[in-house]
Amino acid sequence: MNPGLELLQPYPFERLNALTTGITSADVTRISLTIGEPQHAAPAIVLDTLREQLEAVQRYPNTRGLAELRQCIAQWLARRFGTPELDPERHVLPVNGTREALFAIAQTLITPGGEGRVICPNPFYQIYEGAAFLAGTTPRFLSNTPDDNRPDFTAVSEDDWQRCELLYICNPGNPSGAVLSIEQLQGLIDLAEQHDFVIASDECYSEIYPDDRCPPTGLLEAAAKMGHSHYRNCLVFHSLSKRSNIPGLRSGFVAGDPDLIARFSRYRTYHGCAMPLHHQLASITAWSDEQHVQENRQRYRDKFAAVVPLLKPWLDVAPPEAGFYLWPHTPIDDERFAIELLKRANVAVLPGRYLAREVDGHNPGFNRVRMALVADLNDCVTAAERIVEAMKQGW
Ligand SMILES: Cc1ncc(COP(=O)(O)O)c(C=O)c1O
Repeated sequence: MNPGLELLQPYPFERLNALTTGITSADVTRISLTIGEPQHAAPAIVLDTLREQLEAVQRYPNTRGLAELRQCIAQWLARRFGTPELDPERHVLPVNGTREALFAIAQTLITPGGEGRVICPNPFYQIYEGAAFLAGTTPRFLSNTPDDNRPDFTAVSEDDWQRCELLYICNPGNPSGAVLSIEQLQGLIDLAEQHDFVIASDECYSEIYPDDRCPPTGLLEAAAKMGHSHYRNCLVFHSLSKRSNIPGLRSGFVAGDPDLIARFSRYRTYHGCAMPLHHQLASITAWSDEQHVQENRQRYRDKFAAVVPLLKPWLDVAPPEAGFYLWPHTPIDDERFAIELLKRANVAVLPGRYLAREVDGHNPGFNRVRMALVADLNDCVTAAERIVEAMKQGW
């Protein structure tokens, strides 16, 4: 059996269920701020395409995806990140959501055995860790600094960079919402050149940001602006789940280094994970339209504008640089805080420690909680009001 299976940790939501089973909540409807599943409506144009194209189920899709989809993705990348020279044939690969692709890339790239072949942020999206274990290595976690919520890349030793085969970055960050600067990204690209490792940049929150004038910078954009137009060692992972509120379509893509895309495509042919054709056609509609994405962004802005002032006197919240999470410190232990909010207010939040691992005796998620503002505006405001009332009772 794959020994990595024994190392897999229970998923944060399983841990939350175990923590809260048997707890009697306040007698009001539960509002959940735990799972990052958008509750905004799916765009009608995408659903229409999906319905119209259903008969495509009669055909097998192939792993590389439709040429029209790859082309439309390359055009989207060029519009959004200024990467005009991307070739849809060589640089782009559709995937069934970024989760499976973030997992599969480690299986493709990692030499089994040894430690630290994968470096990943801490806190982190849980798939990075499981992907490393099942690829036969133990990840090296790089904790976010308490001050600015970004990994301190300067803390990685030469030796660790030398051993590294795959660096995951999450930009914008989940749960921190922090965005890496172009200088930081370019510094990482230089390191990847120097030590020959791959950067997997998880950018699935890149389209949810507060200011139209400064959208988050992407890894390929940073590469293009430093003249690194071969995109060597660089892969970005994008998704329609958060951008377009269609997590159930399982649609995303990987783009970047053509040599890595070719290898990944080869792996995926055997893995057998081609995207169904009607999903590909619906994805073309989604990537081709920005209006629903702008409206979506505005909904999140409205929610942060309403919720942050309510919570601010009680918790250290601020609208994130991007994404839809709040990540405040808690006045008491994060697990107890989550339990008390359930009991007193029937609002579910996720203890921060579940999203991170202890490194050198410290878990950077400790005494923080993640709140996903995915419900509609009224529910988010009600949740914030209830949290305030619960906090007024003291501990
Ligand atoms: C940081 C991060 N990456 C990737 C994903 C996976 O998204 P999907 O598989 O829907 O593209 C999620 C989902 O919540 C996420 O939070």
